[in-house]
Amino acid sequence: MNLILLGAPGAGKGTQRAFLVERYGIPVIATGDMLRDERKANTPLGRQVAPIMDRGDLVPDDLLIQIVRKRLQQPDTRRGFLLDGFPRTVAQASALDQILAEPGRAVDAVLYLRVSRQVLIDRLAHRYVCPTCGSVYTFQPGEVRQGPRCPKDGAQLYQRPDDRPQVVARRIDVFLQQTAPLIDYYARQGKLETIDGQLPVEQVRAAILRKLKTFEPAQDVTA
Ligand code: AP5
Repeated sequence: MNLILLGAPGAGKGTQRAFLVERYGIPVIATGDMLRDERKANTPLGRQVAPIMDRGDLVPDDLLIQIVRKRLQQPDTRRGFLLDGFPRTVAQASALDQILAEPGRAVDAVLYLRVSRQVLIDRLAHRYVCPTCGSVYTFQPGEVRQGPRCPKDGAQLYQRPDDRPQVVARRIDVFLQQTAPLIDYYARQGKLETIDGQLPVEQVRAAILRKLKTFEPAQDVTA
């Protein structure tokens, strides 16, 4: 299964991807995480993209296309993949079509998590991330004691620098201007599956599973 998770910042792409990876046994290709790893390792690429990410803009298409092309050449992606955060522009989507332009390789479905601007802003204002295991938590005001810790490994949770309110506003604007055209792009290809991303996490998950059932091979009931 070759899948894309599409949605604005805070739509719940990261939250939903773990179960998809587990259910379909496919690797995740999350470009935001890959760029944050480059920053953590202080590579030339990491230093180049840091100011762009911190102001909420998109990293140039050619850099991202190169990264994803290389990753999709690795053999583990032959049995399927889940793209989270790529493509984000029409240029990236058409490059992806070209990268996959060989027999048996194509995007099967694009799962678009639709969430209103106000809900995105609220979610990102209260998102905390574990630096060790990557788990993501939501704490409402009043729930946050000083230095909240990860219940799984005890590491001190942090808020992403691009989750500051003015950067979130910019990221949502960038999504609407540069990424939202992909909704039509994939609808025209007959691959778009729209999901109400404002439902509780478990209901979003169930809705995704219902949509994907049609793509799963039929069980052989005679066996
Ligand atoms: P990236 O890391 O991809 O960030 P994003 O797309 O902005 O998405 P987020 O990670 O912020 O949100 P999410 O949808 O995963 O939400 P989450 O599940 O955490 O990109 C970062 C930057 O990298 C970009 O701005 C850009 O600069 C650069 N970049 C990356 N890819 C690029 C590309 N292809 N081209 C160019 N530049 C690129 O959920 C959010 C919160 O809500 C959490 O607290 C969660 O617990 C909560 N939540 C989730 N679902 C629900 C629910 N159903 N109900 C209630 N709460 C929920």
